Amino acid sequence: MQNPIIAPSLLAADFSQLQKEFAMINESQAEWLHLDVMDGVFVPNISFFTPVLQAVQRYVKKKLDMHLMMVEPEKFIKRCFYLGASSVTIHYEACNHLHENLYYIRREGGRAGVAINPHTPVDVLEDVIQMVDLVCVMSVNPGFGGQAFIENTYHKVERLKEMILRKRSNALIQVDGGVQLQHVRKLVESGADVLVAGTSVFGEEDPLHAIRQMRDVAIKASLAMHNVR
Ligand code: DX5
Ligand code: ZN
Repeated sequence: MQNPIIAPSLLAADFSQLQKEFAMINESQAEWLHLDVMDGVFVPNISFFTPVLQAVQRYVKKKLDMHLMMVEPEKFIKRCFYLGASSVTIHYEACNHLHENLYYIRREGGRAGVAINPHTPVDVLEDVIQMVDLVCVMSVNPGFGGQAFIENTYHKVERLKEMILRKRSNALIQVDGGVQLQHVRKLVESGADVLVAGTSVFGEEDPLHAIRQMRDVAIKASLAMHNVR
């Protein structure tokens, strides 16, 4: 059994104080840093890429989890690994050749992730789930931080967990968007392994405390499910 992972999302950080935010992340109990790359085509917003990620790579000591919200993500997979990615997640809705792209990510030596938008049913992953190391279930429509969590996500996570067990896949389930402390227990109980948190970490007065609290609740829920005291 692996402990649930908290992945703060840099999108919600104060970009005028990146050095300080990096130091906070390094000091925190977060295992991963989630990095949202947006192209202004797949989603109606543009975020950051190479220059910012070079700085991240230089200073951040956590696993770098890159979420590509872009069309033709295959053009940038190599670059992500060059920038230190440990996982690269591409969108089901943005790929004509998802199977091939997942194979390509694994061949580059990283964790292959696929993200699904709120309107996309988990069933579409039936035939690729064994090639996937991470499924990112979007709990908001991608493009912006700070949106409200979509409650139907719990149900999707449950169905996905059932598929992963049935197909004997090792994929982790990640939930991304609007995740707050109040959602953590139920998400873990539904089967989530990785919780992305932007505003609920960087928007807090004490982000280190917010991360610690989320992690404690997640681990407690996971231990209770596995009947470990
Ligand atoms: C949304 C991004 C999320 C977002 C999470 O398009 O993929 O990762 O940054 O931020 P919050 O937790 O503020 O919704
Ligand atoms: Zn994201």
